[in-house]
Amino acid sequence: MQKDKIVVFGSFVVDLTSWAGHLPVAGETVKGSMFKMGPGGKGSNQAVAVHRAGGDVTMVTKVGDDVFGRVALDFYKNEGMNTDYIFIDKKTGTGSALIMVDENTGQNQILVVSGACDKITPEEVDSTESLIDEAKIVLLQLEINMDAIERVINMAHAKGKTIVLNTAPAQKLPDSLLQKVDIVTPNEIEAGALCDMTVENEQDARKAAQILLDKGVRNVVITLGKNGVFVMTPEKHELIPAKKVKAVDTTGAGDAFNGGFVTALAEGKDIFEAARFGNIVGALSVTKIGTAPAMPYRDEIDSFVQ
Ligand code: RIB
Repeated sequence: MQKDKIVVFGSFVVDLTSWAGHLPVAGETVKGSMFKMGPGGKGSNQAVAVHRAGGDVTMVTKVGDDVFGRVALDFYKNEGMNTDYIFIDKKTGTGSALIMVDENTGQNQILVVSGACDKITPEEVDSTESLIDEAKIVLLQLEINMDAIERVINMAHAKGKTIVLNTAPAQKLPDSLLQKVDIVTPNEIEAGALCDMTVENEQDARKAAQILLDKGVRNVVITLGKNGVFVMTPEKHELIPAKKVKAVDTTGAGDAFNGGFVTALAEGKDIFEAARFGNIVGALSVTKIGTAPAMPYRDEIDSFVQ
């Protein structure tokens, strides 16, 4: 089977997750039912999703010289993932995310502090050049410092790599950057932030996707939660319905989708088939608790497909 190399350039943070019967409003204290600490960060979650789905992936990130940083290294070693490009920051601590999950709905709220992975230097980016040379696909998110993101995109674009940008967390981006991206993969909130509009349904997604194509992005994939995934290329568009599963924790579902999506692209599938595969990986991830630890393995994905 074709298996092109994938580089994920993004965040690692430690997730500190609490579950409760409802999420607190401002000023409210809620007694929770469970707490877990584990590996997270959108970039890292996506790399783990690729690895477990059978892809050939190298994660590039930066952690502090601290206990949380060792969580990353231990987890990657356990998973059998490459740790050659996990940079260590002597001054800044590893990032963390405070996550609250509503145990009745599976919905979450996240406050992420990127920490060391927000301090990736130009020299560290440049040291990944040979890795990027060997890869076909470079996947990024927006949880690391923007100057590093721009430098990676410029390098990968100049080398003709397929650049997939998961524009999470939500923020506006300059057209000059979007024009170098082959595929953007926002969720509905992130698509809204990019296009200055509200995205709630297929019709809104179609409008937002067209705006992004007009800005110069080559292809657009908008994840719409329970409404599925909307894919638009210059030639055609399609809404891929969500898979019905019992959700226990939706945290990291977008990361699972992105990991599955690029894994399928690296196997030679077209963007629509890749989105179908990502959709399944995303659906399976919400049936388990946690982010990176909830990413499904290839045999689970294959059994679901059958
Ligand atoms: O997408 C989910 C992730 O976002 C969590 O793992 C948390 O770390 C935040 O970065």
